[in-house]
Amino acid sequence: MDKEEARKFVSSRSWYQTIDFEPGLRSVGCKWCGDPAWTNIIKYLPDNLKGKSLLDVGCNAGLFCVRAALMGAESIVGIDWNNWRPNWDFIEQQVFVKKYFEEKEGRTFPITYIEGKMEEVISTFEHKFDYVLGIASLYYSEYPDKLVREISRITDTAIVRLRDESKITLFTSLFKEYGFREEEVLREKWWEKLDCQTDDFYLYLFTK
Ligand SMILES: C[S@@+](CC[C@H](N)C(=O)[O-])C[C@H]1O[C@@H](n2cnc3c(N)ncnc32)[C@H](O)[C@@H]1O
Repeated sequence: MDKEEARKFVSSRSWYQTIDFEPGLRSVGCKWCGDPAWTNIIKYLPDNLKGKSLLDVGCNAGLFCVRAALMGAESIVGIDWNNWRPNWDFIEQQVFVKKYFEEKEGRTFPITYIEGKMEEVISTFEHKFDYVLGIASLYYSEYPDKLVREISRITDTAIVRLRDESKITLFTSLFKEYGFREEEVLREKWWEKLDCQTDDFYLYLFTK
């Protein structure tokens, strides 16, 4: 795809994830989502993901899947439900973001996107993942108990961004109930760094 085509796509879409495609080309999404969030997520990941598998729950435009592929991950799955905001076509964005970075890298990424409700899709998996990401997404599930039970079945390491005291209490209790320990937690005060008003987020590393 040529630069003009890419620029047109990026500027004509409504983005949730802020993505730094290259100097001068950035999607204008939520200020603390997408690449800004990735700067904290990687604190819980090794430098190299060679041979590793990763599942991104609520992957949106798929940026974290692409970033994991750039770090060498061998098998990556992203789940998102396209009805969350019916006017935002995340599937089209997933296709674009993946293609853009694949062309830039000159290789195909081992990413599969699945459209559907998170707990329903996860319950179909028969293999385990080295890492599961649930970044500002798990608390949209209608069935948190089933969701965390299913996550526990398919991984020993989950990286989860939470907000809101009641959701934090619910999810940290569920992760513990299903066999995880709270390895680390990072308080994300985006309002201190960015010109924006937002709650604090908490980025948890749960391991078994
Ligand atoms: C706040 S956004 C976070 C997106 C991404 N994880 C990030 O941090 O940039 C929440 C995402 O969860 C997805 N989502 C909401 N409910 C869902 C569900 N029941 N199953 C799958 N995805 C869902 C939305 O479509 C949206 O992409």
